[in-house]
Amino acid sequence: MENYAKLWLGYTEKKNNRESKCLKKIVLSGAAESDTIVKNTVLELKSGIKAMLGFEPEIIVSADNILSSMDLSSGKYILDAEEYSVQIEDDGLFIESKSASGILYGAFDVLRTIACEKSIEKSYSSVKTVRPSNPLRMLNHWDNMDGSIERGYSGRSFFYKNDEIIIDERTKDYARLIASVGINAVVINNVNVKSAASYMITDRYFEKLAQLGEIFAGYGIGLYLSLNYASTIEIGGLDSADPLDERVIAWWKEKMAEVFKKIPTLKGFLVKADSEGRPGPFTYGRTQADGANMLADIVKEYGGIIIWRCFVYNCRQDWRDRKTDRARAGYDNFMPMDGDYHDNVILQIKNGPMDFQIREPISPLLGGLKKTNQMLEVQIAQEYTGQQIDVCYLIPEFKEILGFKTYCSETDDTVADIINGKTFNSRFSGIAAVTNTGNDFNWTGNYLAGANLFGFGRLAFDTSLTSEEIAEEFIRMTVSGDDNVVDVIMNILLPSRDIYEKYTCPLGIGWMVTPATHYGCSVDGYEYDRWGTYHRADHLGLGVDRSDNGTGYALLYNEPNASMYNSPESCPDDLVLFFHHLPYTYVLHSGKTVIQHIYDSHFEGYDEAERSAKEWDSLKGKIDDEIFENVSERFKRQLINAREWRDQVNTYFYRKSGIPDEKGRQIW
Ligand code: GCU
Repeated sequence: MENYAKLWLGYTEKKNNRESKCLKKIVLSGAAESDTIVKNTVLELKSGIKAMLGFEPEIIVSADNILSSMDLSSGKYILDAEEYSVQIEDDGLFIESKSASGILYGAFDVLRTIACEKSIEKSYSSVKTVRPSNPLRMLNHWDNMDGSIERGYSGRSFFYKNDEIIIDERTKDYARLIASVGINAVVINNVNVKSAASYMITDRYFEKLAQLGEIFAGYGIGLYLSLNYASTIEIGGLDSADPLDERVIAWWKEKMAEVFKKIPTLKGFLVKADSEGRPGPFTYGRTQADGANMLADIVKEYGGIIIWRCFVYNCRQDWRDRKTDRARAGYDNFMPMDGDYHDNVILQIKNGPMDFQIREPISPLLGGLKKTNQMLEVQIAQEYTGQQIDVCYLIPEFKEILGFKTYCSETDDTVADIINGKTFNSRFSGIAAVTNTGNDFNWTGNYLAGANLFGFGRLAFDTSLTSEEIAEEFIRMTVSGDDNVVDVIMNILLPSRDIYEKYTCPLGIGWMVTPATHYGCSVDGYEYDRWGTYHRADHLGLGVDRSDNGTGYALLYNEPNASMYNSPESCPDDLVLFFHHLPYTYVLHSGKTVIQHIYDSHFEGYDEAERSAKEWDSLKGKIDDEIFENVSERFKRQLINAREWRDQVNTYFYRKSGIPDEKGRQIW
């Protein structure tokens, strides 16, 4: 027995589809039998169907696309390669694609249909064609080589221990798990590249990295590394990392030739430069584009790409300084060079301008940049959203982000359109999530946090899926197919993000977390600090004025968004304190005053969390004990946390404002 859960690839016995004739013969068409991905696909189908339905299908592989009804060449994007179709033809099931990975995704589609006990006949009687929404669907691990994980809440790393790379059965099962939901790229080390990780691009680790890359490649997953921008100094023996210095360029040329030769499956690098103490081109008076382009030009001949993060801001701000606005930093640092980044550079942009708070506006770089490849970065590691103790299903948030209209062009102007390459016809683009995995038995600490890993992959692959559809698939495949159980867990997952928001930071203001750990309430924890994260509460009101009277941040958006955010009258309630400093007596669109909103939402948030915990209790004996106990224990801690947040926030603002709760509830 393995020491980890199989999650949604559990392949338990199913009743439906046992008599399905077309599952007896499955034809995989479009890739060679000798291809490793195809071999893995055959194994997956055989073992999955055998375990779920009790028989092993006959599988025929044909390198040609043999179904004449197919039209796989209609689109203009490079996405076509990974597109697949599934249909019942004659007496068998045909899975077709132009690529082996497409066939793999088609096979997982079929296995998912069986696992969710949907009828195969109904699902594929007419052709089902799915084209991945995003070219790059990526996970970013913040794993360190000593085995710790930055912002990890699920145990230690399963990639590293004591500065060595681990390769075992779990590595392969990890690749299966994430490929099954459509992930095609993984960065395996922390963006803060320090200590041993700086040596990943040396022969100390080449052999293991090459092996790891092969395993991933067998599931259509590209291997990426985070790169230490100052490698020339830290491991190269030079005294500079100036991107225009000939010695620096020469060093990188030689290094990259070696790296791509030794790790043939390597696809590229992720770089965090000039950020939170990491070195970068600013040190030498150069631009971010100078740094990114230097590396991109060198890796180009190996087909490599450079993913350059936009998380660049001054983390040594004086809290007395009211002119500097951290929210502006990404835009101010990267917009002026729109068009200067070379074509194998992608800028990776966090969804909000700050840092993965429970609610933030969309980064104005998305919809600002028009001539640059872009990738969206979200965080399923629940750093600020409950740390996999509190349940917080993030897919509804990601749906909002993707659906945001940026007004950057007349059509196809949502964030989803920009990152899938449609708006600006870009070749390299997509979506990345800072991942939430570790070596805990259940991979994600809380079993319910698995819904974010599963859901991120599913959504990245098909942004048209709804939060409900994704949650239901996750529950049926991972926990139980019993309709009552499914209903209960859906009722817990779907409102969980709103509940978390209600008992934590009100109206978009964010932060108020315990400094450094970022779990638990500390209203003033970051108020007199250097990180640029303030709520500016006094006895009259709170919020940050980012309108044209304040830092001007609101005006960085395209119209009509700029005007909408610029005035409190048109700004949506849920972001109003992000954009405006308002009196406690200000009346929101909801009809409530700011202070009454704070009280009401905090009481409601706690009560709703308590209700969710009770709903979970009703599952005792109806689901696997291991899962039940794991989540129960987390709910106990969530309620302690929610109560602390409710009472500290309410008491803090009551003491500041002196305004009592209309409903006379207990405020300490
Ligand atoms: C946050 C997080 C850090 C991380 C950083 C990043 O600030 O707290 O741990 O390194 O984001 O995204 O680079």
